[in-house]
Amino acid sequence: MIPYGRQHIDEQDIEAVVAVLKSGWLTQGPAVDRFEECIRDYVGAKYAVAVSSGTAGLHLAAIAAGVGPGKALVTSPITFVASSNAALYVGGSPLFADVDPATVNMSPDCLRATLARHKNVRAVVPVHFGGLPCDMEAIGPIARDAGATIIEDAAHALGATYPDGSRVGNGKYAVMTMFSFHPVKAIAAGEGGMLTTNDEKIYRHLLRLRSHGINKLDDPLEVVVEAETDGMKNPWYHEMQELGYHYRITDIQCALAIAQFKRLEQFLARRRTLVAQYDRAFADFENLRPAQGQREISGHHIYVVRIDFAKAKTTRAKLMRDLRGRDIVSQVHYIPVPMQPVYRRLGMTPRDYPNALKYYDEALTIPLFYDLTDAQQEHVIGTLKELVR
Ligand SMILES: Cc1ncc(COP(=O)(O)O)c(C=O)c1O
Repeated sequence: MIPYGRQHIDEQDIEAVVAVLKSGWLTQGPAVDRFEECIRDYVGAKYAVAVSSGTAGLHLAAIAAGVGPGKALVTSPITFVASSNAALYVGGSPLFADVDPATVNMSPDCLRATLARHKNVRAVVPVHFGGLPCDMEAIGPIARDAGATIIEDAAHALGATYPDGSRVGNGKYAVMTMFSFHPVKAIAAGEGGMLTTNDEKIYRHLLRLRSHGINKLDDPLEVVVEAETDGMKNPWYHEMQELGYHYRITDIQCALAIAQFKRLEQFLARRRTLVAQYDRAFADFENLRPAQGQREISGHHIYVVRIDFAKAKTTRAKLMRDLRGRDIVSQVHYIPVPMQPVYRRLGMTPRDYPNALKYYDEALTIPLFYDLTDAQQEHVIGTLKELVR
């Protein structure tokens, strides 16, 4: 079976994990700091906070942005449920701004319309779908004018760049950026996430929230009489000044992620080549076209095609089954989040997002990962050519 995505693990990864197991530091050790430094320096941000998953990162970012009861978070309807669930975790309201059909990213015009209707928005979460950065030049001022904090969902976009060539996550357009290291992502930690920011206050807040809300670095303490003896800090003393979480990542995961990070450019280069080969092959296809362009700036997380199933005289369900019969696994990214039962029960109506619905009717994710061979890719292309006519 050719999966739609898969991690690449080699001896260097295994050795790195074994070395950590022998080191005595399984968690809260130096590998966590080192991984944070890798991502911070790579994207060009001032600070990075590693967490147990991208979802945990979004949860903490929503708190840091002030989302909560009576306050809303706007994201794209074409995303993984985690992007909007962050609002629900903190008792806030999730809202959606429809996608631009040409990019499958949040449409700046739809965001403006959403913000005109809702005055209580604290966070805007643009999702760099498939690794393609959103139009942040347009989204930035719209969100800021509404007083909302921008949290980029860059789960797909490690290695992606803005049109000016600088890296996603550098804080140019967003107060916080979240990356994910789930196995199908650019690099794998098993599970894991990272938040980058240039704001020191937010950085310190995220450090506390990641670990139960307990003071970190030189945070001021509230109950000074408990904190000191003879004018010196008591070595055992710590304070939980707000409710935080246990969202720490382990050194084992970070060791794997660092080993993977060393080959990030190699991974991205292969994905870029595969994407160019798909694009060339699909240029003269009938009833099937790539869902996104702007390949030069994308992080190439997934390869999505849009298929006119009616014209091709098939259905997506049948095509996916037929592909499986030829050893090819395909997927759909994503079911529009407002269609999910939890969101319908909140009063969402999927037809309010016509671009998302039209995209969803046509979308299919086909295999894209580092180890996909040219021969396997030709098999995918040839099979699609035969099945989608
Ligand atoms: C767009 C998007 N946002 C958020 C997440 C959540 O990341 P994680 O799986 O690391 O919690 C994912 C992961 O699949 C994702 O694709």
